[in-house]
Amino acid sequence: MLITAGPTYERIDPVRFIGNFSSGKMGFALAQAFEQMGATVTLVAGPVAQKTPEGNINRINVESAREMETQVKKCFPQTNILVMSAAVADFAPNEPQKDKIKKKDDFQTLSLKKTTDILSMAGKMKKPGQTLVGFALETANELENAREKLHEKKLDMIVLNSLNDPGAGFGTDTNKVTLITQNRMENWPLKTKVELAQDMAHFIVDKLILEPI
Ligand code: CTP
Repeated sequence: MLITAGPTYERIDPVRFIGNFSSGKMGFALAQAFEQMGATVTLVAGPVAQKTPEGNINRINVESAREMETQVKKCFPQTNILVMSAAVADFAPNEPQKDKIKKKDDFQTLSLKKTTDILSMAGKMKKPGQTLVGFALETANELENAREKLHEKKLDMIVLNSLNDPGAGFGTDTNKVTLITQNRMENWPLKTKVELAQDMAHFIVDKLILEPI
């Protein structure tokens, strides 16, 4: 079982980065839930202040999208289930500066390049018997965009987070999600992230793996 969690930080210079507000709570709760179900868990964590849950969890800390990509590439072939709950940065500075950018420098434009879409990469590597779950964070055309990501990234399931739902999203202890598979959609009520992780872990094992529908 491989889970990614938290944000990634893309360095601009030694003291600044591009990042996002992901707390890692959902991914860490998922790691705990799967561990409690008996899975051997590898948790690839971006820079977060979360404590590793107890039990059979191998935590690998990474900073950037590139480092996360390297770990997923390495671990995915030995994995039955990958859940990408990390909020991976889509763009990284083209040329991170070795020295701190000074105020007096004539620095006005930050040039960016796209990071690798790690989930799409895993979709391409996927072998029969492997299950791939992604998250989608949307603010508009939510269902349509999430379904598109399900197909394009070759996922078995996508978990749609809507930033329009109060109590859902970054930083909170609760989340409200819609689970979308190839031929099923479930709107779940607001739950704590711990409760949600347990229900989601059971859903993945029972509905995606044991009795695929
Ligand atoms: N993801 C990834 N690698 C990236 C960006 C995203 O693996 N470089 C994964 C996330 O972990 C998540 C899923 O892709 O499981 C969807 O992330 P999201 O930010 O909703 O969508 P993007 O594919 O990045 O597209 P957009 O930002 O344009 O909505």
